[in-house]
Amino acid sequence: MEPPRLIDFPRVVIFSGAGMSAESGVPTYRGAGGIWAEYDYERYACQRAFDRDPAAVWEFHNLRRVRVAGCAPNSAHRLVARAQRLHPSLSVVTQNIDGLHQLAGATDVLELHGSLWKLRCEDCGATQETRQAPLLEVRCRCGAHWRPAITWFEDPTDEEVFTAAAEAIRACDLFVSIGTSAVVFPAAALPRLAARSGAVLVEINPEPTPASALHALHLRGPATEMLPLLAGGLPD
Ligand code: OAD
Repeated sequence: MEPPRLIDFPRVVIFSGAGMSAESGVPTYRGAGGIWAEYDYERYACQRAFDRDPAAVWEFHNLRRVRVAGCAPNSAHRLVARAQRLHPSLSVVTQNIDGLHQLAGATDVLELHGSLWKLRCEDCGATQETRQAPLLEVRCRCGAHWRPAITWFEDPTDEEVFTAAAEAIRACDLFVSIGTSAVVFPAAALPRLAARSGAVLVEINPEPTPASALHALHLRGPATEMLPLLAGGLPD
């Protein structure tokens, strides 16, 4: 199959994972150099860890904030944003918490796993969005620790965001998975939803994934080199 052109499909969904930001310098979660090879999620990325030792969880998240704050969107993020400006029915559904799609100019990004930059206080209900890195004041004015507004392991999915993503996917004609290992559910069920809804699926990933068989075309290479293959006909 020839690479389809984004411009030829009335409704497009870009579904991204950590590989989308790998070329920006943000480490992926799995594979060589992956975050979960170095850090045990049970100590740093689940509610139980936060309840037990919020300082350790904050040390980990501050390291991540500093690392990601030093990263800029790459040419694939910029291409997605440009395509969205020229193609109003292009939705971005991401598992990433780094905010790089938005920094590149994408709008209405559906963040399935929340954001590294958003915080909430589970005691008084306050919320905050800040890119300060590291976050200097990890406690809310009420005295409780801010909780990163991230979907950690064992957390329920944000239903509102997931429902909006599922709606966009049910309605799409072209679904492009970029840089996800497709192993974390329920996000990993979304390619199947797209396939069932009759969309054409394209996977951009140097490696095969458990969802590969659902995709009609596999572009085996990095996002910045493969995504431009779908950009034919997009005006500058
Ligand atoms: P993973 O780290 O599991 O997978 C990253 C994928 O990106 C792999 O399949 C790589 O082959 C691919 N990849 C690497 N470099 C790439 C590049 N330059 N271009 C394209 N693809 C590339 O990341 P996710 O699938 O996003 O959850 O992980 C899903 C969730 O697991 C994350 O959202 C995170 C994690 O636990 C939370 O933090 C809640």
